[in-house]
Amino acid sequence: MDTITDISTIKVGVVGLGLMGCSITTCLIMAGHEVIAVAPLAIDLQHAGKRIQAHLMLSKEHGLINREPGHYLQHLTITEDYDFLKDCKVIIECTLENIDIKKSVYNKIEAVISSEAILTSNTSAIPISILQKLTLFPKRFFGLHWAEPSHTTRFLEIICGELSDPVKAQFLYELSHHWGKEPTLVRKDIRGFIANRLMYSMYREAMYLVENGYATVEDVDRACRNNTGYWMTLVGVFRWMDLTGVPAYHTVMKDLFPVLNNTAEVPELINKIVREGGKGVANAHGFYSYTTEEAKCWEETFTKFSYEIRQLALKYPVDVVEKKLKL
Ligand SMILES: NC(=O)c1ccc[n+]([C@@H]2O[C@H](COP(=O)([O-])OP(=O)(O)OC[C@H]3O[C@@H](n4cnc5c(N)ncnc54)[C@H](O)[C@@H]3O)[C@@H](O)[C@H]2O)c1
Repeated sequence: MDTITDISTIKVGVVGLGLMGCSITTCLIMAGHEVIAVAPLAIDLQHAGKRIQAHLMLSKEHGLINREPGHYLQHLTITEDYDFLKDCKVIIECTLENIDIKKSVYNKIEAVISSEAILTSNTSAIPISILQKLTLFPKRFFGLHWAEPSHTTRFLEIICGELSDPVKAQFLYELSHHWGKEPTLVRKDIRGFIANRLMYSMYREAMYLVENGYATVEDVDRACRNNTGYWMTLVGVFRWMDLTGVPAYHTVMKDLFPVLNNTAEVPELINKIVREGGKGVANAHGFYSYTTEEAKCWEETFTKFSYEIRQLALKYPVDVVEKKLKL
């Protein structure tokens, strides 16, 4: 598959330097790209450089990279000026989840890039078929859906819209292996793509169970961690059923599917938190309540875990058995 020989010749642009833009930029410079990171708002400039440097330092500490942060930072330009994107072959838009903002950003990007360049969005949920129609060349537009923190996670969805060029999708698929990803190619656009469709069906059921008094938030979380969470880094849902016996699932599906929650309403459990301004760990108010110290400790634990689970996951790539049998 590999036709990409020198990644340093592929200049990549990232537009939007918030939480995800910074970790995506980190991932790309660690992979060996020249990166142009554009701050759409001046306020991004206050934190972006520091955040990327901190990601690099932790990555060095955890052995993801072997050179000092300064080496990677030489290949990064942070700017407010869209003109710097001129020679980029791939551009990743990572601005707020707002269609008007994204459209105005595409206008600015497309005013400077070549018609051959690939334009992508890290949108969580806006259909790619809608976004691509806001651009000059819809064929070269794709979703690139990352998971935070992008420089440690192996998740990436490459999403084709109705008008996307499959050859370019294949190029992105191949390129993303050089970013340390195990990508998923979403061949036909669908709302929520793949991972969010799976996860949101679980969020809906989890909230139903709590709101109807079957279990507490803590108990639902405990069940999720110790059942689903225990094996999911090794296998996905289909391999899991293969490993544990397909007919049993078939039997249970017949009884359980008709009684699973399928409401289209957003549950009051989450409505209330959002009405009250709760953001979760970010402001110590979510499904759990936290002291400031506990919230900070959860953030640190999450970061530490993301590096450790990566080490474990790397021992078990998706083709782990194929590799073992070839040895
Ligand atoms: N946070 C996650 O875990 C996550 C996961 C997957 C995808 N995403 C998606 O990534 C994108 C960015 O999310 P984030 O978490 O980095 O958000 P963020 O709030 O941390 O950053 C948002 C960025 O948008 C820019 N922005 C804000 N207002 C703007 C405007 N008027 N014009 C131009 N740019 C503007 C900001 O300067 C900032 O760079 C969103 O589409 C989000 O849905 C986020």
